[in-house]
Amino acid sequence: MQKRAFLKAITLGGLVLPQIGKSMTKIIPSQPKVSPTLLAADESYWEKIRAMYRLKPDYINLENGYYNILPEATLNHYLNLIKEVNYHGAFYMRTRQFNERAEQNNLIANFVGCDPTEIVLTRNTTESLDLIISGYPWAVGDEAIFAEQDYGAMIDMFKQVAKRHGISNKILSLPNHPKSDDEIVALYQNAITPKTKLIMICHMVNITGQILPVKKICDMAHQYGVEVMVDGAHAIAHIQFNLKELNCDYYGASLHKWLAMPLGVGMLYIKKEHQSKIWPLLGENDTVKGIARLNHFGTNPVHTYLALQYAIQFHQNIGAANKEERLRYLQNYWTNKIVDIPNIILNTPREANRSCAIANVGIKGLKPSEMASTLLKTYQIYTVAIDGAGVHGCRITPNVFTTTKELDQFVKALKEMAS
Ligand SMILES: Cc1ncc(COP(=O)(O)O)c(C=O)c1O
Repeated sequence: MQKRAFLKAITLGGLVLPQIGKSMTKIIPSQPKVSPTLLAADESYWEKIRAMYRLKPDYINLENGYYNILPEATLNHYLNLIKEVNYHGAFYMRTRQFNERAEQNNLIANFVGCDPTEIVLTRNTTESLDLIISGYPWAVGDEAIFAEQDYGAMIDMFKQVAKRHGISNKILSLPNHPKSDDEIVALYQNAITPKTKLIMICHMVNITGQILPVKKICDMAHQYGVEVMVDGAHAIAHIQFNLKELNCDYYGASLHKWLAMPLGVGMLYIKKEHQSKIWPLLGENDTVKGIARLNHFGTNPVHTYLALQYAIQFHQNIGAANKEERLRYLQNYWTNKIVDIPNIILNTPREANRSCAIANVGIKGLKPSEMASTLLKTYQIYTVAIDGAGVHGCRITPNVFTTTKELDQFVKALKEMAS
């Protein structure tokens, strides 16, 4: 974020937002002047980051894919925002909230790399993408394409529009270990017909952590006049990319995942030329133009959106490249130790460009639900069981506060369970 934009954000509208810019910088330990690759293995640096969180001692949390808890610094700023908005009351809601929300919109646009007129803050990925699927100007006979590994809430909405508007859904299956980008692109390409209107793809598949070649799929689909909607729930503030360069038509994400925003904040990007054709989810106010006409949801917890400036600052103070490298390092740390062990099945591609923090592992002959339950009850390790769409195992998601010692305990548990 540009300094000018940030300063403007904290003073805008006269709301006395806590002036925490400097203090946030101070409390984040300064990074040793080394490359992200070297920093990734520097346990003493990451121990200091860990100290910025209040962590439960009861179990090792390897289920950070659901959402990222807030570091104490962001949490305290967020609590102050709640107090401030409560103090200013209706006066704030009728006057200043609009400008200040617009400023947060500018911040997220700047963060992901798109124009502020092409993005809005929503509650989550589900709201963002279901709005596109339900509001798309479908005609009877149109076709949509997605994968069985995509997220259930979006698949449910595609099923609903199939019933409601007479479209048909083509559901393909992604390999857990693709040989190349071309293999993935061809899967989608082969499913396209003259009736295809929209393809949904995950940027990062939630059950395996597999990263898809989004730009290549978008470029291919556009050659057929087909639009692409990207589910980026797990990608924002996890892996580095520029949204515009992906060349997608729609992009939805949850900011309470890897950006560590308070629960209930997401984003929706819509390429300018598509905005006017999408039907809003709720009644339209004719006086509102552009993407904002799709973002009319009544009274909202504005203090939650205002926390964006602090979440972005926390992320940037660690450094996007440092965070991505550390997360990939942690995943490789444990996967390297188990990949060749009999009875252990890794469901995530090994190449650096195809995965980051998230990986999925199964044990031959053990139900994922039993595996997750044993990990928690016997080894005090919290994960989530995945059992479907060709993926059978536990999803393992470390965070910036995860230590290699914790992963050693997980590896030990896996080896014992597999033998
Ligand atoms: C790939 C993917 N898409 C969408 C979602 C839904 O996110 P939310 O519940 O924040 O709307 C998730 C949640 O985990 C997800 O993993």
